Amino acid sequence: MTDPSRYENAYKNSIEDPGAFWLEAAEALDWTVKPTKGWNENDGWFADGKLNSCYNAIDRHVEAGHGERTALIHASAVTEQSQSFSYAEVLHHVERTAGMLAARGIGKGDRVIIYMPMIPETAFAMLACARIGAIHSVVFGGFAAPELAKRIDDAQPKLVLTASCGIEGSKVVAYKPLVDHALDLASHVVGHVILLQRPQRAADMIPDRDLDWQQEFAKADAAPCVPVASNDPLYILYTSGTTGVPKGVVRDNGGHATVLVWSMRNIYGVKPDETFWAASDVGWVVGHSYIVYGPLMAGCTSVLFEGKPVGTPDPGTFWRVIRDNDVSVFFTAPTAIRAIRKEDPEGAFIDEIATGSLRAMFLAGERADPDTIDWAEAQLGVPVFDHWWQTELGWPAIATCMGLDDTRRKPGSAGFPVPGFRFELLDDDGKPVPAGSAGNVTIKLPLAPGCYATLWNNAEGYAQAFAAFPGYYETGDAGHLDSDGFLNIMGRTDDIINVAGHRLSTGQMEEIVAGHPAVAECAVIGVDDTLKGMVPMALAVLKGGQTARSNIADEIVARVRDVLGPVAALKEVHIVEALPKTRSGKILRAAMRGIANGKNVPTPSTIENADVLEQVRSVLQ
Ligand code: COA
Ligand code: AMP
Repeated sequence: MTDPSRYENAYKNSIEDPGAFWLEAAEALDWTVKPTKGWNENDGWFADGKLNSCYNAIDRHVEAGHGERTALIHASAVTEQSQSFSYAEVLHHVERTAGMLAARGIGKGDRVIIYMPMIPETAFAMLACARIGAIHSVVFGGFAAPELAKRIDDAQPKLVLTASCGIEGSKVVAYKPLVDHALDLASHVVGHVILLQRPQRAADMIPDRDLDWQQEFAKADAAPCVPVASNDPLYILYTSGTTGVPKGVVRDNGGHATVLVWSMRNIYGVKPDETFWAASDVGWVVGHSYIVYGPLMAGCTSVLFEGKPVGTPDPGTFWRVIRDNDVSVFFTAPTAIRAIRKEDPEGAFIDEIATGSLRAMFLAGERADPDTIDWAEAQLGVPVFDHWWQTELGWPAIATCMGLDDTRRKPGSAGFPVPGFRFELLDDDGKPVPAGSAGNVTIKLPLAPGCYATLWNNAEGYAQAFAAFPGYYETGDAGHLDSDGFLNIMGRTDDIINVAGHRLSTGQMEEIVAGHPAVAECAVIGVDDTLKGMVPMALAVLKGGQTARSNIADEIVARVRDVLGPVAALKEVHIVEALPKTRSGKILRAAMRGIANGKNVPTPSTIENADVLEQVRSVLQ
């Protein structure tokens, strides 16, 4: 599509009359009760509508005669297997999985925690919850038991769904001991754990509490779709905030479904029956929106990939999945492309494996550096687009809308505001920054449909996102708008870092490091990394009388891994005499970050003790 007016008109209409714009988009769904209201200050989006998200993802396509069309392909590079499910087959699995949940007392509004690897049953379980109006909360497998326990205590689920193991590259990761440990740590008691035994590793079952998935499924009846209010929660997805307490982003049904279907067509430019692949994990928002709900609601084929971009078995895996499944549009994180490039700099695997079906590649999760974009475009011969979004928003807010106008692109920038989003760049006092200057990236209210309207059990935490700039949502990112209208995202303004496309809080890591009995105080900073974009680094000061035992750094690394999870990827710990601080006692994290990143950082005038900074400088340089 190379018609600029299509994007311009869509954007203008979405801003001038958002209610009418999105009510028209909502026509693409099957509603039990069609909404008559678009936006309403008190009730949010589509307040009087009723629908079922699972019905819109699966049943309606089968009822429309597309039951034979492929809905889901499980491409497992780690087991070297691929399995396809038609829409009719997915319906069979989902309605019985829903029946299995209903038989254990799960109904509308009940929470179900899903701690599972990238297997079809995980998607079936999510859709099954949606089918009966239950609220799923998927927890990423790379989080350790204490993190899972926090989510269990906050969501108060009746049931945990899990599998005996995940497969991480060549490692088999036993999930059941983590679930058992989490349930020991949690105060909340769940009714049951339903566990899918995978052939790679069997799990021990606790009598009465644990139930076998296959047996439960075999005796389950098919459960029908339960219509829910548009604003009823579909899921809770926990994401890192600035403290150790994760934020439970609550997603609605109607707004979410509307924007996902709209975005499949207008952002990703994908038509029904085409194959879309988001190489993410269902534990992240990308997996929710663009592995499970978006492609299926739009009638596409979705790929659920179990593997890594490299090492499963080689850097050609992605290209083989694209070739073998006729993928039209592909979505991944820049870090994955950097990992592939490192192992296959000349693109030999790409040359050998024809990816002719591919039309475009989208990147998100962290800024896509122009070098990575240029390399990927040269190798693949298709446009590569950066685009920006967050768990809170649920779908892209800055992008090249390929279905409207694919010419609006500039490597290094995340793109243009997506229809529905009014960005403003504000200084810390809430005033618009001059054109081209850096500022806080904010979005003028109301937020577009699909964006979060609350945090689970945490209305105060939700309100904080709107407190600094009244009338605006504070994204937590800094950026600038260039003279052509492109938005450039520069990084976070808080202590969140993105490690290999995974969102983590350095504040939370500091809490964990500080919990080590020998540590008096510490700082965790994000350091640039050529592969993962950023990695955490800890600087710790030991308590008086503690000598720097050689294994203390290892203990800190192990502690973060055990408490937060392997996904934290904290590998580097420095024991220092003291941390540089301002005279008012604030740790100079930004200065340390600059030094660790090889920048020439002058000694700040506010420093309490310049010698301490020099000592840290000698450690980090
Ligand atoms: N279950 C259990 N453990 C998991 C896990 C899961 N679902 N996901 C990750 N882990 C573990 C890994 O095994 C690894 O453990 P290790 O330290 O014992 O090796 C650790 O968490 C870090 O994993 P990861 O971040 O995946 O790093 P990696 O070194 O294994 O691989 C990349 C590096 C770049 C190849 C990989 O991070 C990647 O593919 N990133 C893209 C991420 C992505 O798509 N994000 C979605 C945003 S759109
Ligand atoms: P998450 O909620 O895990 O999706 O992480 C959201 C955060 O990731 C954003 O606030 C950004 O800091 C970062 N991010 C995501 N996509 C991009 C992008 N395309 N460019 C720059 N930063 C990004």
